[in-house]
Amino acid sequence: EKQGFKHFMLKEIYEQSGVVRACLEAYFPASAEKPMTLGLPEEFYADLEQIQIVACGTSWHAALVGKYLLEQLAEIPTQVQYASEFRYAPSPMTANTLTIGVTQSGETADTLVALSMEKERRQGKEAKYQARLLGITNRPESTLGQMVGSIINTHGGIEIGVAATKTFIAQLMAFYGLALDLAHRRQTITAERLIEIIAGLRQLPTKIEAILETQERYIEQLVHDFAETKDFIFLGRGINFPIALEGALKLKEISYIHAEGYPAGEMKHGPIALLDVKVPVVAIAMPGSVYEKVISNAQEAKARDSRLIGVTSVNDGEAAEIFNDLIPVGEVEEILSPILTVIPLQLLAYHIAARRGLDVDQPRNLAKSVTVE
Ligand code: F6R
Repeated sequence: EKQGFKHFMLKEIYEQSGVVRACLEAYFPASAEKPMTLGLPEEFYADLEQIQIVACGTSWHAALVGKYLLEQLAEIPTQVQYASEFRYAPSPMTANTLTIGVTQSGETADTLVALSMEKERRQGKEAKYQARLLGITNRPESTLGQMVGSIINTHGGIEIGVAATKTFIAQLMAFYGLALDLAHRRQTITAERLIEIIAGLRQLPTKIEAILETQERYIEQLVHDFAETKDFIFLGRGINFPIALEGALKLKEISYIHAEGYPAGEMKHGPIALLDVKVPVVAIAMPGSVYEKVISNAQEAKARDSRLIGVTSVNDGEAAEIFNDLIPVGEVEEILSPILTVIPLQLLAYHIAARRGLDVDQPRNLAKSVTVE
């Protein structure tokens, strides 16, 4: 039941700190001898040279964050493909490729077909080929769970709202587990760095709670200004580019407002022509490798009269001056920041849709799992 929340989506947004705790417990149990426990077979790791990930929708966005982690932490070249594209133009298979299917429901038709094609291509080859098919799912008992030999269970709990929120956070956590496991085994990060990242992950649940406690009311008020808005742009770079895509998708799905997520540096190659006083821009500007770049991209948008909403942990004079509205999130190192930056975007989409009186949990034309092509 909704436990006092107006919609399941809001309840599920609030459940996310608990989901992160459950994932921490499952992948990084403090009591275990090893730093990570994913329970994957040993053949899985032997001579692994590249990774391809297939997924749809929000799961595809989680896969893009996964690519960043797998490449930057474990130094494994990784491709992410839409399952609906991959199934008609599969990449050539090489001996040392791991294929990962990411699907919350475990029932998305395109993702299942892409994975079964991969399974077939590996038939009759050495055992290590067969071992290199992995599912990341919230439902291990699903069709996907039965199809592939290895699963990372995402511990999101049942999600009722059609728009994926807590299952997305859980998928991100699974990618932290996998990327750190691989990085540790391949020694692409030091033991000290591993401990530092895991310690950072353990602080995330309270930081999520702080955003919900301090920002929900503010965002609920903020959306009054967007009663007439027809378009939104979301900007991010690096590990937060997929979060910009996810913020835009959430808004489209439940509020029916046109929204685009863009890598901030690409704006000047075309989309900047869209901007004017009627088009608000949400910029994710977290300290790290791309902070100054995002700020300067945001300034370019402001110069076109767009209202600028900043999601950032920087609360200094410069940030206050550039952003018309500032949604602060806690300090966190860049590589862990998506777990925090997505929360205000979920709340923004939720409150815009709720204020428009829309059926947030059952948006038009959408189903919780897409079991047809
Ligand atoms: C977004 C959403 C969809 C799903 C997509 C894949 O909020 O719900 O975009 O993410 O249909 O679904 P799964 O993860 O079940 O394969």
